[in-house]
Amino acid sequence: NRQWRGVLHEYADRLNISDATPIITLGEGGTPLLPAPALSARTGAHVWVKFEGMNPTGSFKDRGMTMAISKAVEHGAKAVICASTGNTSASAAAYAAHAGITAAVLVPEGKIAMGKLSQAIAHNGELIQVQGNFDDCLDIARDLAANYPVHLVNSVNPDRIEGQKTAAFEVVEVLGDAPDFHIVPVGNAGNYTAYFRGYSEELARSATTKLPRMFGFQAEGSAPIVHGEVVKHPETIASAIRIGNPASWSLATEAHKVSDGYFGAISDAKILEAQRILSAEVGIFVEPASAISVAGLLERAEAGQIPRGSTVVLTVTGHGLKDPQWALKTASGDDITPQIVPVDTAEVASVLGLAKA
Ligand code: F0G
Repeated sequence: NRQWRGVLHEYADRLNISDATPIITLGEGGTPLLPAPALSARTGAHVWVKFEGMNPTGSFKDRGMTMAISKAVEHGAKAVICASTGNTSASAAAYAAHAGITAAVLVPEGKIAMGKLSQAIAHNGELIQVQGNFDDCLDIARDLAANYPVHLVNSVNPDRIEGQKTAAFEVVEVLGDAPDFHIVPVGNAGNYTAYFRGYSEELARSATTKLPRMFGFQAEGSAPIVHGEVVKHPETIASAIRIGNPASWSLATEAHKVSDGYFGAISDAKILEAQRILSAEVGIFVEPASAISVAGLLERAEAGQIPRGSTVVLTVTGHGLKDPQWALKTASGDDITPQIVPVDTAEVASVLGLAKA
C-alpha cells in the first residue's frame, strides 16, 4: 500500500544508475496492463493492452525521459534538445522543468497535435517549429548536440531505450512470463528496440521462458522499414509516427530477426477504425499512432498469423486526449455533431428513444 515511485527507483538495480545519479521523476511507469475482452473475442487470442497513455505526460516517452534527464543532470547538463513529432517534446519539457533545466524542442511546423504543442509550451519548453519534417528536425538536433553545449535526449541517446525497456519488465511481472506476441507502433523504432531489450534481459535472468515475437507497424505512407527504403516525404494522419528515416532502424532489424518478428504497414482508414474499436468496445482512448497496434493485431489475426489461444500484448503508446479531433469524425470524414435539444425532459427522452415506464 505505497505509492509507485517511478521506474528509476522501482528498477534501480536493473538500470545503469548509481548513488551519484539525481533521480528526476514524475512517477512514470507502473501503467495498467488491461485485458481487452472485445479484442480477444474478435481474434480468439488472449489480448492485453499496455496503456502507456497513463504516464504523467500521457505517453510512453516518460519512461525514457526520466532516465535521459537524470543522466543529463548527473553529467552537468543545463540544457537538453530534442526533435519531436510531439510526445518527446512534451515529455522533455516536463522533466526538464522538474529538474530546473532548459529543454529546447524542434518540431515540424504545423504537424504536431494540439495537445502535445500545448504541453511543451505549458512546461516552458523552448519550442521551435522547423519548416521541414521530423527527419529534418532530428538532423538539426544532432548537429546542435555535436557542436553546441546541449545534450540530446532523442532515442538515439541510449539512456532513452534503457528507461523504456522497463515496460517489458512490468508486462512480465503481471503475466508471469513473456507473451507470445508483442505489438507496438513503429516510428523511429526506439520502443520496438526497447521492448526487445527488456524481454531479452528477462529471459537472460530466467524470469521468462521465451522471447515474444515482436510485431511492429508503420503507417502506409510512412513505412520505410516495411519497404526497405527511406521515405522522403512521409505522410499519415498518425502524426506521431510520420517518420521517413527511423533513428533505430538497424537495432530494430536485429530485434526483428532474433525474435522472429514482423513489420507491416497499415492504412490511415484502418488506423482510425481501430482507434474507434478500442475506444468504443474496450473503453481505452488512444491517439491514432497508438491505435495502429490494434489495427495490426486485427490484420494479422485475419491473415491467420496469430494462433487462437496465444497471448498477445499491444502497447498503446499515447493518450487519446493528446489529439482528440479524430474521434469527432465519421469513417467517411464527416463531422460528428452531438444533438442539441431545448430544456425539456420529454425531448431528451424522445431523442434517446426512451418510452415512459
Ligand atoms: N506512438 C507514439 C504516440 C509516439 O509518439 C511515437 C514516437 C511512437 C509511437 C513511435 O515510437 O519512435 O520509438 O518507434 N514519437 C516520437 C516523438 C517520434 O517525437 O514523440 P518509436
